[in-house]
Amino acid sequence: MIPNQWYPICLSHELRRRPLGLARMGRRLVAWRDGDGRAVVMDERCPHRGAARSDGRVRDGQLECPWHGFRFDAEGACRRIPCEGPDAKISAGLSTPAYPTREANGLLWLFWCAEVSEAVPAGSLPEIPWFEEFREPSRSEASAAIDWPMNYVRSIESNFDVHHFPFVHGSVLPGMGERIDPLEVEVEGTSIRTRGQLRRQGRERGLAFEIDFEAPSLTRLAFQGFSFIVADCPVDEHNTRRHAIYRQSWLDVPLLGRFLTWSFMMLDWKWLQNRQDLKIALGQRPAAPDLAVEHLVHADAGTAAYRKLRHDLLRKAGVEVQKPQ
Ligand code: FES
Ligand SMILES: [Fe+2]
Repeated sequence: MIPNQWYPICLSHELRRRPLGLARMGRRLVAWRDGDGRAVVMDERCPHRGAARSDGRVRDGQLECPWHGFRFDAEGACRRIPCEGPDAKISAGLSTPAYPTREANGLLWLFWCAEVSEAVPAGSLPEIPWFEEFREPSRSEASAAIDWPMNYVRSIESNFDVHHFPFVHGSVLPGMGERIDPLEVEVEGTSIRTRGQLRRQGRERGLAFEIDFEAPSLTRLAFQGFSFIVADCPVDEHNTRRHAIYRQSWLDVPLLGRFLTWSFMMLDWKWLQNRQDLKIALGQRPAAPDLAVEHLVHADAGTAAYRKLRHDLLRKAGVEVQKPQ
């Protein structure tokens, strides 16, 4: 995990009135909404006796622990200890700072730093990564989330992989070519831009694709009128939460347009990715990529660019990592 970056921890609509327990970033977190509906994210563990605060409830805009009813405000400060009465002296150790959190583009984002401290000034945080095409609201958008039992770097790498289509998805999408040509990959700052075509040998035209990436974990894929964002979030070393937001530009009619997007999403997300891709991905060794001894080819140029960008960002953040090939 690259520190000091925004990560999408859940779809906005998954967080309702009740506190939500989330396994993300190798930790157990609780997300909840304060009296103004603002999302708050803190460590799930209660600093009193360690109960899971996600089993608690929100009362008067504060999170109440289910065990002894201690209450915590949106900054993470403990505000009430019922067993000690209204004049209780509340020790600083009962406060656990809230993570810098924002809601944008249908997702709840958490700014991940190595140690949470109150020293992170909200004004100094970088922009949340997003793609221009998806900034304007769309009438034909559909979103979904799945949990993959797979390392999150491997999950992100899989977003750049198009040359598996005829082999893994040929039963559902027959007639695709095997050749990736042309393929252009450009890296600028923390962005990767990929343009290419999957075609049959001897034919000039095939399936045109665009794959764009914004660090640390946001990918946009586009195939002839359909486009979608995959917002990956690490759960731990072996699991990934994947959020997807789909759009299409074929049919801009309120209900029908959304239905078409939803149908494409069900085919791609639930069938192609969650069954066919995941089956292959789970057999991949090593399961975590940093020790990978792989022989990338030209068609893997997007994956190679991602590995290098990730490596550079980790080093910049002071994390020791193995150099990518
Ligand atoms: S464990 Fe949370 S209030 Fe006691
Ligand atoms: Fe696939």
